[in-house]
This record gives sequence, C-alpha cells and structure tokens, in this order.
Amino acid sequence: MRRPIIAGNWKMNNTIKEAVELVNGLKRELVDVNSVDIVVSPPFTALSDVNELIMDSNIKLSAQNVYWQEKGAFTGEVSTAMLKDAGCSYVIVGQSERRQYFNETNETVNKRLKAALAGKMQVIVCVGEVLEEREANKAFDVIKEQVQGSLQGISSLDINNVVLAYEPVWAIGTGKTASAEQAQEIHHYIRGLLKDIFDEERASEVRIQYGGSVKPDNVKELMQKEDVDGALVGGASLKIDSFSAIVKGAV
Ligand code: PGA
Repeated sequence: MRRPIIAGNWKMNNTIKEAVELVNGLKRELVDVNSVDIVVSPPFTALSDVNELIMDSNIKLSAQNVYWQEKGAFTGEVSTAMLKDAGCSYVIVGQSERRQYFNETNETVNKRLKAALAGKMQVIVCVGEVLEEREANKAFDVIKEQVQGSLQGISSLDINNVVLAYEPVWAIGTGKTASAEQAQEIHHYIRGLLKDIFDEERASEVRIQYGGSVKPDNVKELMQKEDVDGALVGGASLKIDSFSAIVKGAV
C-alpha cells in the first residue's frame, strides 16, 4: 500500500508572519491525521521559522528548489546541506514554473535530484505537458522524455526517496483540473515507465501525486484512482481551511 502524500507548494507567497499563522492553523486542524504524509513548502525565507513550529508535529518541511553544488560562488542559490540545516526533509524539483520561467530542463532537474538524494532528502519531481502538447496528442511523449530525463542514472535504491508529481501545465492555477480519468491515464503511464527503468516492485512503490487546481471538492475523486497517491497543491494550500480539507479528503 502506498501511503498518501499531500504537499502544499506555497510558491512565492507568505511573509514569515503569514507563514507562521498558516502553519499554526494547519497544525491545529490536522493534529489527528496520521494516515497521510503532510508536507508544506514555504519560500526559503520562512523555512526556519516554520520548522520551529512543526518540528514535533505530523507536518514535514519542503523547499521549493535546490542547487546541485555543495557551496561556493553561486549567488542566489541554496544547497542541500543548507536546506537540511533549515529543517527540510523534502524538496520539490522541476515544478513547471521553474521549467517555464527559469530555464529548468530535464538535465538540470536531474542534477538537482541527484544532489538532494545524495543528501538523503525526499524529492518531489514534477513533470507535465503544456496545452499545445496535449492538443497535439504529444502528452505521452513529453511525459516520457521528462520522466526518463529527470530520473537519468537514479538507482533503484534511491527511487524509494522520490515522489513523482504529474502536473499538467494547463491545469496549474487555471481552475481547470484534469479529470480523474485523465490523471489516472498519465499516472498509469508513468508507473509503466518506472517499471521499464527500475522493476515492477519498485514501480509499484513509488508515489505519484497529481497537481493542478486541486481543491477540497475534487481531491476525493482524484484520490480514488488507482495510481493517484496524493496531490501537490498550489493556490488551495495557502488557506488553512482549504488545505486542511484537502488533506482530510485524502484520508
Ligand atoms: P495550483 O498549483 O494548485 O495552484 O494549480 C499546483 C502546483 O503548481 O503545484
């Protein structure tokens, strides 16, 4: 059985004060949830403060990106060791906004992934097609390239520490969710790719999240699908009530 995992990607939102308020509310609302992995991903500036508050709770801390070098003259970047020092056990790599606006490629996603895995972090690796690719019936090809490219050279031991997130770009922040059937179709395809890269047992253990306009009222239907093991939530993770309801909807 794959344990459900719900992660809130706060993106470039929340001051430290706002982050503290949000996470205090989540702690209160979610204290009794123990059958779902709950992850929050604040901006770098709020990581340490949020960590202080969730240290002894059922909520785990994630960063939104990591650089692959250990240290040195890389202005603006943050290393795996720095993230761990701030309390992160998770990191998200390859989220579509990184790919769209910051020149992220499968190759750089792969480097970030390897650095984070070497530091024993759990890594959420995002993949997903844009609308034109879906309309041109290229979604499967794009996903294949992204999954294979991002996971290049990852060992079958390390894949245990990876969560895949399927996020169709046309569904991110648009209010337009993929149907549960569309999500399942791609998730099933991704699991098949994992089987080819690793083996059947490993593939059956990897968790695959869906992301793209996940809300309290659509999470249940998505989670009922066989290969949907959780959600990566953007907009709806910024409010105590909606994120709590999504986590509870995944129980
Ligand atoms: P959204 O974002 O829930 O606001 O659509 C999802 C994501 O980018 O992780």
